[in-house]
This record gives sequence, C-alpha cells and structure tokens, in this order.
Amino acid sequence: MVRVLVPMETAAGETRVALVPDSVKRLVASGIEVRVERGAGSRANLSDAAYEAAGAILVGGDGSGYEGADVVARVQRPSPAEAERLPEGSTLIALLQPAATDDLAQRLAARGVTALALERVPRITRAQSMDVLSSQATVAGYKAVLVGAMELDKFLPMLTTAAGSIAPARTFVIGAGVAGLQAIATARRLGAIVSAFDIRAAAAEQVRSLGATFVASEVVSAAAETAGGYAREQAEEEQQRTLATIGGHLPSVDLVITTAQIPGRPAPRLITAEMVATMRPGSVIVDLAAETGGNCAVTRLGETVDVHGVKVMGPTNLPATAPLHASQMFSRNVLTLLQHLIKDGALTVDLEDEITGAMTLSPAAGAQRP
Ligand code: NAI
Repeated sequence: MVRVLVPMETAAGETRVALVPDSVKRLVASGIEVRVERGAGSRANLSDAAYEAAGAILVGGDGSGYEGADVVARVQRPSPAEAERLPEGSTLIALLQPAATDDLAQRLAARGVTALALERVPRITRAQSMDVLSSQATVAGYKAVLVGAMELDKFLPMLTTAAGSIAPARTFVIGAGVAGLQAIATARRLGAIVSAFDIRAAAAEQVRSLGATFVASEVVSAAAETAGGYAREQAEEEQQRTLATIGGHLPSVDLVITTAQIPGRPAPRLITAEMVATMRPGSVIVDLAAETGGNCAVTRLGETVDVHGVKVMGPTNLPATAPLHASQMFSRNVLTLLQHLIKDGALTVDLEDEITGAMTLSPAAGAQRP
C-alpha cells in the first residue's frame, strides 16, 4: 500500500497545507494510506478531526510519520532537518524552488529521494489541473486588488450618494497571465475602470473579454510568447517601447497591479523610480513580482514604500493570506498529480513521462535549468 505523509508546514508565514480532507478522502478511497501530522491544517482552519473523518491517520510532529512513507507532500521545501527525515527511496512533492543555489537538491539526491518540483509542472493541457503556480497565482491576483484597495485613498466603485457622486478608481494591471487576469476580474467586480498591458498578443483578447481595456497593442507581438505559453525576455529596444507605453499610462491611474514574470529570470523592470514620481500622490502600486526582484524599481520585498505619496507594496506569499481556498486549490493540484503517479496501487515515478520527467529535480538538472 502506498503511504503518503502530509507534514506540518514550518516555513515562516506559511499557513497552507498540501492536502485538504476532501482530497485525503479520495486518496483513502483508492487504497492509499494518508498520514497527517497533527495540526497540519490548523492555520487553514482544517481540524485534525476533519482529517480523521476523511480517513487520515494522525501522527505526531516528532518525525514518526516519516517512517515507511513513500510520498511526502508539502507546500514549501523542507528545512535541512526535515530533509534528513525523508526515507531513502521516497518521493518528495513540494514547491522546491529549483532555482535556489543551496544544496537541497544534492542532499535529496544523496539520500536517494526523488524530488518533484511543483514549479516545473509543464504547461500542457493534460497537466493544467496539477499546476500550483496557476492556482496560487489566482489567489495572489485576487488578494493583490484587495490589499491595494485597502491602501488606496479612494473607493474603487462609482457611487451616487446624497453626499455627492464619486468617480470610479482606475486600475491598471501589468502582465495579464493567470494572476493578472484574476486581478482584472476582481477589480472589475469591485467597480473599478480597468486597463491592462501585456507583451503577449494572446493576452489582448482575454483582457477585453473581462471588460478591461488593452493598452497599446502595438507593443505586443505573437513572437513574445514561447512554445510553452510563457513570455520571453524582451530585447532592449522592445523594453524601451514597453516602458514608454506604461509610463504614458501611469499618471492617469490610481491602483497598479504588476504581475510580469519571465520564468527562471529576474522579473522585468517595468516601472522606474522616475515613473513612480509621475503618479498621483495617494495612488498605490502592488508589485506581485516582488519575490523575483520586482517589476517596480522602488519595491522592497515584504514592505510598503512611500514615494512622493505613492505607496509601493511588495507583498510576500499572498496565497497564504487566504489559506483555506489556497490550500483547497493546491490540494486539488497535488491530488491530480498523485493520481497520475499512483496507478493500480503502485507508485511509479517514470522519468520518461512528460510530466514527471519535467518535474524531477536532480542536481544536474537543477544546475542547468533555472
Ligand atoms: P507568468 O506568471 O509567467 O507571467 C505573468 C504575465 O507577465 C504573463 O502574461 C507574461 O506575458 C507577462 N509579461 C512578461 N514579461 C512582460 C513584460 N515585459 N511586460 C508586460 N508583461 C510581461 O504567466 P502565467 O500567469 O503563468 O501565464 C502565462 C501564459 O501561460 C498564459 O497564457 C496562461 O494562460 C498560460 N498557462 C497555461 C497553462 C497550461 O496550459 N497548463 C498553465 C498556466 C498558464
């Protein structure tokens, strides 16, 4: 019988859990043993009793649950001490930060642990339901609008009241991928006038279908997209045109959400300090790319910087601020992946498989593929 362990997350600020009781129930029904460390779901308001009712075996946080585990499913990469607990020959599934320069990948390989990095789920239709980057980007895009709205000196919606009429705020979303599209939808639901920018031509139609304006389509091109559906890094001259387009738009907007990313690269710098200075005091920038260096030059990770009255926010781990739904979505992704790996009661990690092979982290692959 395949044994899956869900440990308690120990990384600072992490509130999510890799599997929620509903997914545990499905795994148990298919003959898989699921052990859950006591309290693993508590910060997502998922009780031990709910896990027990779903068929999980509750284990202590003393590491005993690791004994005989075939798969360890977690949200964040393990600490060095946690990595030591992984049984030889087991499979680890987590956000392993494959670009990190420490020696986790080597340590895991030395212990004979197969490490599957959730960041590397390939962008193919078959793997869409396993893609935690997408599901968690949905949460981040939604929350970015809410945290930005809280800092803004204005309402987002138009209001007609006895105390006068209020014009709707203008929201500008830079990068219209999964997070950006959810930010657009959220800002629209809150009544803002929304515009968006992206360098991928495919994004324009999606932006418009959400009721937002697509800014400066002359900068976009079909060639901006790689075969994998990601954006490629822009050439210097393209980058200058992008900056000019964004710079021209910023003085007229109140809330900016930036989400632009290039896989494995630092985030593109799309808002300079000078551009921030052209914005109206009281306006807000929420930089969702803060963890990869920031789309805005003045962003500081985990802080809100005030520049001439413009607040620039660099939030960390926004998905952890909505732990129940973020965990629910994360868990569905992990469940689908486990169902892919466990067939007829046996765990098969097939490196030739398009999905498993792409996710497998080995020191050599880690060094070559950011
Ligand atoms: P991402 O998180 O890698 O980047 C966010 C957005 O920033 C992207 O839309 C990208 O085009 C944009 N961007 C990059 N450089 C920029 C620049 N210099 N200026 C402005 N914008 C810039 O992207 P995400 O959210 O992961 O999605 C990218 C595409 O991949 C989308 O079309 C999405 O639908 C697709 N996708 C497909 C999946 C599948 O088929 N399994 C899974 C996830 C996404």
